[in-house]
Amino acid sequence: MRSHHGVRADDVPSEVMAVIPYRSEAGFGGATRAAAIDVVREAGDSAALPPCDGRFHYVPPWRAATLETLAKEVVPPVADLAARYSTSGRPDELITAGETATLLSACEYVRLRGGGDDCTLAFGGLPSELAEHARHDRMTVRAALACVGWFNANQRFLTGVDVDPRPTAGTPPVDGALYGPELARRYDPARQVTERFNDVLRGFAKDFLGSRRVLELGPGTGRVARNIAPLAGSYVGIEASLAMIEAGRRDGLDVRHGDMMAMPFDTGSVDVVVEHESIDFCAEPLLAATEVERVLALGGQFHRVELETTPAVEIGRLQEEIAARLAEVSGGVFPYWTKGQRQRLHRWLLGRGFVHRRIELARWDETRTLRNWLQGLVNASYPSFSGVDEQTALSVCVELARAASMGDLGTRWPGQVGVVLHQYECVDWCCSGHRPRP
Ligand SMILES: C[S@@+](CC[C@H](N)C(=O)[O-])C[C@H]1O[C@@H](n2cnc3c(N)ncnc32)[C@H](O)[C@@H]1O
Repeated sequence: MRSHHGVRADDVPSEVMAVIPYRSEAGFGGATRAAAIDVVREAGDSAALPPCDGRFHYVPPWRAATLETLAKEVVPPVADLAARYSTSGRPDELITAGETATLLSACEYVRLRGGGDDCTLAFGGLPSELAEHARHDRMTVRAALACVGWFNANQRFLTGVDVDPRPTAGTPPVDGALYGPELARRYDPARQVTERFNDVLRGFAKDFLGSRRVLELGPGTGRVARNIAPLAGSYVGIEASLAMIEAGRRDGLDVRHGDMMAMPFDTGSVDVVVEHESIDFCAEPLLAATEVERVLALGGQFHRVELETTPAVEIGRLQEEIAARLAEVSGGVFPYWTKGQRQRLHRWLLGRGFVHRRIELARWDETRTLRNWLQGLVNASYPSFSGVDEQTALSVCVELARAASMGDLGTRWPGQVGVVLHQYECVDWCCSGHRPRP
């Protein structure tokens, strides 16, 4: 049954309350079913983020109030608009200025997670693929439907409401907000991993994965997967970006297109979940964690692999200068997703009764070229999030390195690299009363 604006009425109990992450009901008991909003509240509804500091805007996690606003105020007008135009058959017709503004600010809301953190560097709003539409007071129906598609794909995990009643046939599937085709193309060349890191990953797989059923969150182009999958009992990855899946070498890897916040896997069906630099990039890491908890068998382990690079002090200083300059070039915005989310996730997992161990898999001194140390800034991700192209980012690096008399990008500099494993074990508690609470 559909309501007048195309949202399934039975998905939307009174006042568009939705906010239900668990779309896959398989094996899901009433007691474990939780609303996204409750998960966020359970975590203390606080953002343990470092303050934005003139160079980085730390993208805030969702807050309960932000989710409520999304469900009650932002989704309904977009759903109305989608229903009005999806069958119009006149893609070049213009929608009204009011509708254009509503749609663009709805997309910005999802991208900014409601803003409201008072950061002067707050992200400029629209993803680059939608920026063109914002240049006109009134966008075409075609552009409006593209915006609806983007909005829908990026909010639906959190509200459980499909606003787009019938995506136009032949439209490419909309990917997550960050990892579109352009970024996917640049990802592997810009983020080359050393043979040493590959060795550590293979050692980790031998020691910890053995004959076990392994699930990887957000494998992207498969950089980690290629090392660990052959050494696991079985391997499956869940990746939101088709572009990333297509950009990677397949090597027979079983990577499913899907969302780590609503996984198509049965409860208790996995022995180990592995994650490297992906959970921080999903819309709400805590929702992914609820799914990790659900799919893990008792005694199962969630392994978060972290790469720690510490360049020489001079390089560290240069990286800061480059970040500051790129922030200027991109209009004062240099979003940084990950820091702060890790602590929040860690606290939530401990609160759920996971037992944590920090295991240093390896640490070594490494001499790299300046280009290589700066890769984190010129890499495929951050510059393109803020609209700085690769060439500009690179020339900023060259110019500032020269000004600091640090030589050219081929000059070699020392530093340290570490690979740390955060292991969270899913243990059983005698009764729910003894399960620790956050
Ligand atoms: C920084 S990349 C890391 C990729 C890979 N783990 C690696 O180390 O190269 C982050 C990946 O997480 C994926 N991702 C983000 N949100 C996701 C979600 N909700 N579900 C599944 N994958 C997601 C992105 O599409 C992207 O491929």
